[in-house]
Amino acid sequence: MAKLLVTGGAGFIGSNFVHYVTSHTDHHVTVLDSLTYAGNRASLEGIPESRLRFVQGDITDATLVDELTADADAVVHYAAESHNDNSLHDPRPFLDTNIIGTYTLLEAARRHETRFHHISTDEVYGDLELDDPERFTESTPYNPSSPYSSTKAGSDLLVRAWVRSFGVQATISNCSNNYGPHQHVEKFIPRQITNVIRGVRPKLYGTGENVRDWIHADDHSSAVLTILDRGVIGETYLIGADGEKNNREVVELILELMGQDAGAYDLVTDRPGHDLRYAIDSTKLRTELGWAPSYGRFEDGLAATIEWYRAHEDWWAPSKDGVEAFYASKGQ
Ligand code: NAD
Ligand code: DAU
Repeated sequence: MAKLLVTGGAGFIGSNFVHYVTSHTDHHVTVLDSLTYAGNRASLEGIPESRLRFVQGDITDATLVDELTADADAVVHYAAESHNDNSLHDPRPFLDTNIIGTYTLLEAARRHETRFHHISTDEVYGDLELDDPERFTESTPYNPSSPYSSTKAGSDLLVRAWVRSFGVQATISNCSNNYGPHQHVEKFIPRQITNVIRGVRPKLYGTGENVRDWIHADDHSSAVLTILDRGVIGETYLIGADGEKNNREVVELILELMGQDAGAYDLVTDRPGHDLRYAIDSTKLRTELGWAPSYGRFEDGLAATIEWYRAHEDWWAPSKDGVEAFYASKGQ
């Protein structure tokens, strides 16, 4: 049994990871989460108290971070400001949490010689043309586009520097777009599902041709556990499940699965600087560490996700009106 400190464990991917870890291992988890608008304590319901300690606090709080890191065998760092559209509106919290927060955690891991795994994104690599035969690999140069992705790129570089200069025992993973339960309604898939539930037409940015590479959050979790178990210190691993789809295809599928006309969506103002395409080559993770995704068809995972949002209106409804007011102010 290991003691894991999971930052951002009340967010979308962090909470899915905590559920996954507590049901697939005997590890004990301490979650450190400040419960921003994106964090929800209810996302951790159902996990036995004997397996979980929840601490509400900020990853930039050096005293708290030091105390919790001292007691952990490993830190798994999910906490971040995570939404591109918000970063275009107000970048400052992204610098505080993604850069200073990561620095604060790295310094604690350095002092206590604690194993550290940094969760990052494929967005650090910028974007690809639609017809580019190449996909992102661990050696693709960094070229982030948005305030969000540039702060994630900065945080990755801090981790690399702390490994090389101070010997911190860290690994990094860069994953593609996740879907599944407990994702905030500001994000693409939950926004469209909850729009349809409310009788509102889905909103596609620009022409809807932008491509994302979808992976179920549980597959992300199994990959992170694999890296924690067998990853080589100092290495970066890309996580992806060969799930490329353009946004139009995803919206049409949501509409069909929800019994609507596949064409019943609106094209709205595009995101400034909108990345065209992400695509991950996860060969390194698969061949060197033996990981493989378990979700088969995207359609099946999406149908289950739709059912989750239908059954958990109490979880998402309190955020929906505020999110839609924000988008409406941007013509989106
Ligand atoms: P999210 O926005 O749903 O959750 C972020 C969590 O971090 C929230 O619970 C929030 O309360 C917490 N948090 C934010 N600032 C904090 C602070 N200063 N101190 C403590 N807690 C704080 O994000 P997500 O989509 O679950 O993403 C989690 C991580 O995974 C991020 O690092 C993100 O960059 C990365 N990632 C996300 C995706 C994706 O598709 N969503 C893909 C690849 C990587
Ligand atoms: O690739 C990994 C990244 O995936 C993570 O690092 C980010 O934290 C996560 O938010 C996600 O970033 P995206 O910007 O790709 O996700 P988002 O859900 O915001 O948008 C997905 C695509 O859908 C993108 O091309 C923009 C588009 N979109 C989004 C919304 C909210 C729409 O067309 N309409 C919408 O209403």
